[in-house]
Amino acid sequence: MLVNLNQAIAKLKAGDVVAIPTETVYGLAADATNELALHQIYAVKQRPRDNPLIVHIGDMAQVADWAAEFSPLAQKLANAFWPGPFTLVLPAKPHVSAVVRANEPTVALRVPSHALTLQLLKQSGLALAAPSANKYTQLSPTTAVHVAAGLGEQVAVLDGGACQVGIESTIVSVAGDNWQLLRHGMITEAQISVVAGKPAILGAANVPKVPGQHILHYSPKTPLKLFDDLAGLIQYQQNNTQTSAALIIDDNPPQNLDFNCIYLPRKNAEVAEHLYEALHRLDALNVAQLLVLKPPSSPEWLAILDRLNRAAKNA
Ligand code: TXA
Ligand code: MG
Repeated sequence: MLVNLNQAIAKLKAGDVVAIPTETVYGLAADATNELALHQIYAVKQRPRDNPLIVHIGDMAQVADWAAEFSPLAQKLANAFWPGPFTLVLPAKPHVSAVVRANEPTVALRVPSHALTLQLLKQSGLALAAPSANKYTQLSPTTAVHVAAGLGEQVAVLDGGACQVGIESTIVSVAGDNWQLLRHGMITEAQISVVAGKPAILGAANVPKVPGQHILHYSPKTPLKLFDDLAGLIQYQQNNTQTSAALIIDDNPPQNLDFNCIYLPRKNAEVAEHLYEALHRLDALNVAQLLVLKPPSSPEWLAILDRLNRAAKNA
């Protein structure tokens, strides 16, 4: 069910969940201070309760409401990457609901850059807990249509168009003057290192948990198989009796293949923007298997490869 901005605000203030657009993927939002509303998020998503939620805030000044420590390093990163596809995991203030944190001592915060959702956050004054608006382990939604298809027509959706970044935010935890990468996203480790003035710490004694990195994540319903080269993909398709469809990430793909293909150029931002839309479309074909030609494995492709590798765990 589509709702407008004022209806979305009224519902959120009443303790209901509303799917909201962000620049990365659609989120299933609820008032981050309302525990009954937070429980609804877990119920609608069928998400395990030990997987904490990201709190979306309208500007950096609101960090002080949630984080016990906003170190100079964390401030530097927030200044560089907010509003945007970047989430900071910081030590939580004691009052932050254990439901949002899933009992972690930390809280994840993000200022999204989607204009409509920034307006929603500013106009309502709310902080919104929002995981991606899909059922647990399934494909993330990048349009209002994906949300309705995944969660059902009864879920209220604020339609903000197709998401422009297209894959989930980069997640970084900061403790004092150290940082760690918890999830790859379109803001790369190299970009963060430049702003931080130092590399991420690895293998420290107190490595934070990454609760949500379920091995089966971002998965279409159709089994998905990855290929390193196009010739291998085509040969597999031709020697296999099962129906298939393919996603081919290549600048010069053959146009004469006799099975369903979606082509994306080897440009990482473009692939990220259209990746989930392509997988949703291929999934809807109801073929027996999806074949995906992988992008290169250089650093700017890591976030996309991470999503594809998890998607392929369903085969
Ligand atoms: O781009 C995004 O981040 C989207 C949009 C809606 O903002 N949200 C999103 O939420 O991807 P979700 O719940 O699908 O993924 C959030 C990840 C989960 O893996 C969760 O475990 C992790 O963030 N996370 C949340 N709070 C955390 C915390 N305190 N410590 C460590 N990881 C945390
Ligand atoms: Mg998710």
